[in-house]
This record gives sequence, C-alpha cells and structure tokens, in this order.
Amino acid sequence: ESQFGSSDCLRGKRVAITAGPTREALDPVRYLSNHSSGKMGFALAEAARKAGAEVTLIAGPVNLATPAHVKRVDVIDARDMRDAAERAADLCDIFISAAAVADFRPASVAEQKIKKREGCDESAITLVKNPDIVAGIATRSERRPFTVGFAAETQQVEQYAQSKLQRKNLDMIIANDVSGSETGFNSDRNAVTVIDRHGNTQLPEALKADLARQLIEIIAVKAQK
Ligand code: CTP
Ligand code: CA
Repeated sequence: ESQFGSSDCLRGKRVAITAGPTREALDPVRYLSNHSSGKMGFALAEAARKAGAEVTLIAGPVNLATPAHVKRVDVIDARDMRDAAERAADLCDIFISAAAVADFRPASVAEQKIKKREGCDESAITLVKNPDIVAGIATRSERRPFTVGFAAETQQVEQYAQSKLQRKNLDMIIANDVSGSETGFNSDRNAVTVIDRHGNTQLPEALKADLARQLIEIIAVKAQK
C-alpha cells in the first residue's frame, strides 16, 4: 500500500488521456456532436492518478468534475483537441484516446446564424474529415508514447477493433459494444475486450470506475514491455 492506494503501478509515469465528445460549430448557435458522456475517460484519469501517474486530461464539453490532482485541459472541437493532445503527447509515456472525436466537421462555419429560406424544404451541410488524433500520435517516428485507443462498435466489435488497432498503429485497443442500453456511451457500466497484437482479453461488465482500475493495471504492465 502506498499513498496512492492499493497499486502504484504507474508511479513516475506521465499519462495523457482524451475524453468526452468534440463539438463542431456550424454557425454561432449550432454544432454537430455526439452522446459521449466522458465518464470512461474521466474514470481512467482518476485510476491512473491513483496508480501514481501524473495525469493530463484533455476534455471535450462534458458535465463532470475534474478528478483530484489531475491537470485538465478543456477543448471544444477536434482540431483544438488534436493540438492539446499533440502537446501532451510530447511529454507523456502513455497516451489513452478515450474521446469520441467527431469524424467530420462542417466545411465552413457561417459567421451569422443560418436562416431558413422561404419555400426551401431541404437543406444539406457539406462536411470535411477531422484529423485522426490517436493515429497521428501512434504513427510518430519520435517521442511516441505507448498508445491506447478505444473502439465503440455496434456490430462485429472485435473485427472492427482489430482492424483499427492495425490501421492506426496502436499498441492496444479497448473494444466496446455500444449496441446495448446497459453499457457504453452514457451508462455507468461498461463491458470491454482488450486487444493487442498478442491476443484478446475479455473483461466482464462492471462499473466504469472498476473497469478503469483494471484497464490501468493492464496498460501499466503492457507499457512496461
Ligand atoms: N479517434 C481519434 N481521432 C478521430 C477519430 C477517432 O483520435 N478523428 C480515436 C478515438 O478516440 C478512439 C479511436 O480513434 O480511440 C477509434 O475511434 P472510432 O470512432 O471507433 O474509429 P474511427 O477510426 O473514427 O472509425 P469509425 O468511426 O468509422 O468506426
Ligand atoms: Ca469515429
């Protein structure tokens, strides 16, 4: 036992974690976003801190309290999150990408509130791709931290996660079935499969806080190697 609790598996390590959704402006009063609560990323930040790490938590717009002794950087959109994540990744040993980054953003942000037009019953928004934050960090040739991603899927969970692990050059991916209502995005519970190049480990459904502790221990062991 240490001052950090039952485990100090991350003592002396620096960990950066992204969490929550991003919000992509369409005009001064509207945005595109998603239902991510940020709970899993915040739980990981707290667990990493309790395991002895120095933690930077890069948070999209969420309604959660900052865990004690965690440095929090608030961001709004994907490009802000990318900039903050790149800066944090320069200084960290482990990077965990728990954020639900918007894949696309409106191609342009209207300066004024967009108005309806008389007789116009349809409208379209052109979207452009956002940068892939975790892939940018995992494909670095220098100062590359041990890099962990998440994959929230509604079908073929392990296959899709496995292909993301490879495509993004991640060290580990945490696959998450969000098709059920009991687990995933807004829930307090989650059930995940941890995948790395050596194989899969299924973790039974648990409170996100308990799962976060287990994941941090697994990450600490794998990042050591
Ligand atoms: N991610 C990221 N930057 C993006 C999109 C995703 O860093 N622009 C990260 C997420 O934080 C997560 C991982 O990539 O750790 C997988 O995200 P996911 O949305 O499941 O995968 P995508 O590559 O966006 O593929 P798709 O949404 O089409 O399934
Ligand atoms: Ca996505």
